[in-house]
Amino acid sequence: MRERISKLTQIVEIFSAKSLEDVEQLRLTYLSKKGEISALFDDFRNVPNEQKREIGQLLNVLRTKATDKINALREQLSDSAQTAETEDFTRTAEPLELGARHPLSLVKNEIIDIFSRIGFTVASGPEIEDDWHVFGALNFPPEHPARDMQDTFFIEKNPDILLRTHTSSVQTRIMTSQKPPIRVLCPGRVYRNEAISYRAHCFFHQVEGLYIDKNVSFADLKQALLYFAKEMFGENTEIRLRPSYFPFTEPSAEMDISCNLCGGKGCPFCKHTGWVEILGCGMVDPNVLKECGIDPEIYSGYAFGMGIERITNLKFQVKDLRLFSENDVRFLKQF
Ligand code: PHE
Repeated sequence: MRERISKLTQIVEIFSAKSLEDVEQLRLTYLSKKGEISALFDDFRNVPNEQKREIGQLLNVLRTKATDKINALREQLSDSAQTAETEDFTRTAEPLELGARHPLSLVKNEIIDIFSRIGFTVASGPEIEDDWHVFGALNFPPEHPARDMQDTFFIEKNPDILLRTHTSSVQTRIMTSQKPPIRVLCPGRVYRNEAISYRAHCFFHQVEGLYIDKNVSFADLKQALLYFAKEMFGENTEIRLRPSYFPFTEPSAEMDISCNLCGGKGCPFCKHTGWVEILGCGMVDPNVLKECGIDPEIYSGYAFGMGIERITNLKFQVKDLRLFSENDVRFLKQF
């Protein structure tokens, strides 16, 4: 017995393998139930009692050695197999830096999150649109000066095809394809022909909302917007609605929030008024409902629209709009 053990110990010392299959073969030959080391354990029964202690120890040492050796070989071989498959040897030695979410995406997601808690779902639509979805259906008569409110980019030679100037076009698509109740948010990029400066860009991002059902009133609109303002800018935020004009809503309003920097006391940011404007809103004009196939005698609705850049500026005090589209990681990493 002693001899067999020392012979096997020598063999274990020189275990070697070129592949994972070799390793498995070693395991089968020596450690499996029918393996040579296991056979020694079977014979252990016949060892005279006075030798059991010593032989038992030798056997255990042998088995541990064999197991360790086989595990080590297996690890070595699977490591090198992985290296060959996944390492990119053309990569530079510089550590790769992780990116961060764009501030506009962060704020957009927060807006969606807040409104989804009161039942709004998200819809999207094309950025290249036709005149009817952007203007026609929304109560902008042809040649109406209101079209000048949103300086439009037209696709060359075809004045019917244009870049959407607001995501209200997605609301047109929803109203013409779904039946009320409708409660939807339309986030997305919009385009307006404006000179690029620190405070204007030829594209920006909006989230617009639309709610149509029986008996929807201006009070519902105000409640939803107050809830949004408090969730977004803090519990102490107040709102103020000022009468305004949009072709697709009647009555229309613009909403201010109490300046989130000075808390409404007045500071350079709010031009010492204590208020900052954040969105446009109103009750959907019955003409719009009719045009989209919804009976204004039965249904009413509210709509609102805000610029994501605007909300982001209020939250993070970004002074120059152009930073949002320059992709400078030094800027993007700060959020
Ligand atoms: N569509 C308007 C804009 O882009 C915003 C708005 C949406 C106003 C809904 C009122 C109601 O300026």
